[in-house]
Amino acid sequence: MPPVRSAFVAGNWKMNGALAANAALLEKLRAGLPQRKTAEIAVFPPFPYLDQVARLLSGSMLFLGAQDVSERAAGAYTGEVAASMLADFGCRYVLVGHSERRALHGETNALVARKFGAAQSAGMTPILCLGETREERQAGSTLEVVFQQLDAALSLHGVAAFANAVLAYEPIWAIGTGLTATPETAQGVHQALRQRVAKDDLAVAADLRILYGGSVKAANAAALFAQPDIDGALVGGAALDADEFLAICRAA
Ligand code: 13P
Repeated sequence: MPPVRSAFVAGNWKMNGALAANAALLEKLRAGLPQRKTAEIAVFPPFPYLDQVARLLSGSMLFLGAQDVSERAAGAYTGEVAASMLADFGCRYVLVGHSERRALHGETNALVARKFGAAQSAGMTPILCLGETREERQAGSTLEVVFQQLDAALSLHGVAAFANAVLAYEPIWAIGTGLTATPETAQGVHQALRQRVAKDDLAVAADLRILYGGSVKAANAAALFAQPDIDGALVGGAALDADEFLAICRAA
């Protein structure tokens, strides 16, 4: 049987939002979503708004996710948020290893791999973010970089853990820059990532959803989603605009 990977659109709000703005955005999203479930859709607000957003999403087809998680379960870790807490608030997904966390907070591949495990231990699905810098791409080391990022989690948890995980390929040079990878460029990396997982387990690889992120908008979403190994998008800026985000969801 060919794999059935349901399309997935994830809206990463990053450090944006306010009570009133969140309510207005979610009201528009709920009103504009297709009645028939076509793609899986999730939003990732900042931690303080998880409770508000969980309530505003209840009864809708939208899922809730968090932007980060602590590798630790509980204790004297000021400022950290445990996976069990995110699960308490109804999070189904957690981003781990977003490039902004790697770059601004020094998150290593090893730490990201432990966060991946923390999310799963609390019953959530980690979305493991991978991607190369402009310099790494120019040096021809894109695959080497994303494989190292992937391998850290693969070797720590084993390929079976990827039956409950999502990958997000986000080339750093495409994030917030308006420069999207061409569908063919992104497809090449997605296919290579899937093949890497397939070396360990064909079935897990066939079912693994791999999202593309980096300046995804209504205007370029359909061409990206037409690629065989692009299963959806991790959307930043355009996730804050209801019309843009809904159009991306429709394209998926
Ligand atoms: P932009 O869509 O704003 O480029 O951000 C992508 C991203 O980092 C999503 O996690």
